Amino acid sequence: MNDLAGKHIVLGLTGGIACYKAAELCRALIKEGATVQVAMTDAATQFITAVTMQALSNRPVYGSQWDAREPNNMAHINLSREADAILIAPCSADFMAKLLHGGADDLLSLMCLARPMDTVPLLIAPAMNREMWDHPATVRNRAQLQADGCTVLGVGTGDQACGETGDGRMLEPQELLQDVVAFFQPKVLAGQQVLVTAGPTFEAIDPVRGITNRSSGKMGFAIARAAQEAGAQVTLVAGPVSLPTPRGVRRVDVQSASDMLLAAVECSQSASIFIATAAVADWRPAHASDQKIKKDGSGQTPTLAFVENTDILATVAQSVRAKAGALYCVGFAAESHDLLAHATAKRIRKGVPLLVGNIGPATFGRDDNALLLVDADGARELPHNSKLALARQLIAEIAKRTAAKSHA
Ligand code: CTP
Repeated sequence: MNDLAGKHIVLGLTGGIACYKAAELCRALIKEGATVQVAMTDAATQFITAVTMQALSNRPVYGSQWDAREPNNMAHINLSREADAILIAPCSADFMAKLLHGGADDLLSLMCLARPMDTVPLLIAPAMNREMWDHPATVRNRAQLQADGCTVLGVGTGDQACGETGDGRMLEPQELLQDVVAFFQPKVLAGQQVLVTAGPTFEAIDPVRGITNRSSGKMGFAIARAAQEAGAQVTLVAGPVSLPTPRGVRRVDVQSASDMLLAAVECSQSASIFIATAAVADWRPAHASDQKIKKDGSGQTPTLAFVENTDILATVAQSVRAKAGALYCVGFAAESHDLLAHATAKRIRKGVPLLVGNIGPATFGRDDNALLLVDADGARELPHNSKLALARQLIAEIAKRTAAKSHA
């Protein structure tokens, strides 16, 4: 993916041990397609050299407002006008305080103050000792910076360079990258509460065996990420998969279809959009044995009886909230053939306004897919692409439909 293609980021470094992570962040931003202009405070140069940052960004690093390399001697104006965003990582407690007061006695703070606020957003990734992070002054500064339009990215928790443990570490480069990518996505689901089910379910036969399927959960996880990037609060009810939780998404892990039903019904009470991507087992063993079923030496195989699992999507789609129009439900259909016919019939059968079809065997476990969107007006194809790109397109389609509904 080149999620930052065409974006020019001013990466500002202030004094803190987390400067070592800024080197990795710079690479990650560039790998994602951005161009990066590094600016450093004097304090930052105590922790990492401009040489390192120049080599990684492939551009001269700026540090002084008196830099004679700029023909008009206005680095603070020139650099800030080119930027699509200024990202300060790490942002020290001192620099937060300076930003708050509009201080401008070094190039980086001058640039932040001189930036056109409407077109050049400011993002900061704080990094400091836990006592400094929890200090009322920093808490106040954080709140006021947010009120002034600055995006304060979170902090990590854990071991700190000083030997203490707590909140205040700078987020990891990959986390910051995801946050920057998310920042640039259109906020088409702002204010929405989205519930996603994803992955397979596991239906126990005994304590060591069970029945599951080949769903990887990748499409559902991509949809949860895309919804979060679009500004929604997202809950992801996930069957047994080993995928990392998308940033900012609340995850509820479940095993069986019955667990998933309980979790989904409960979470749907506060959701405004429900997207059912999970490959829920249609049947479960009628009786799961408490103990491992042993061979008895007779050569006889055990007989398994099955009962049908409740249809989670259909249940939620029949709920009072969905019927009242407070919950927009989207189903998925994994088919092996006749996608349009099956998806059209399934949409009616499940009682949902939108059903998304895909060819199951062609997509299980892969990072790409193609989708067919079927609603009351007909069908629309989202051609072959990465699952994340398709997830973003699907979220845009859902946003259009829910916005149209709320204006109807
Ligand atoms: N689904 C669900 N609960 C179930 C079964 C399915 O919520 N017990 C949801 C899936 O998450 C998906 C949609 O229903 O959004 C379609 O699931 P699928 O298994 O493809 O359809 P089935 O209803 O099982 O139909 P068929 O077996 O005919 O393909």
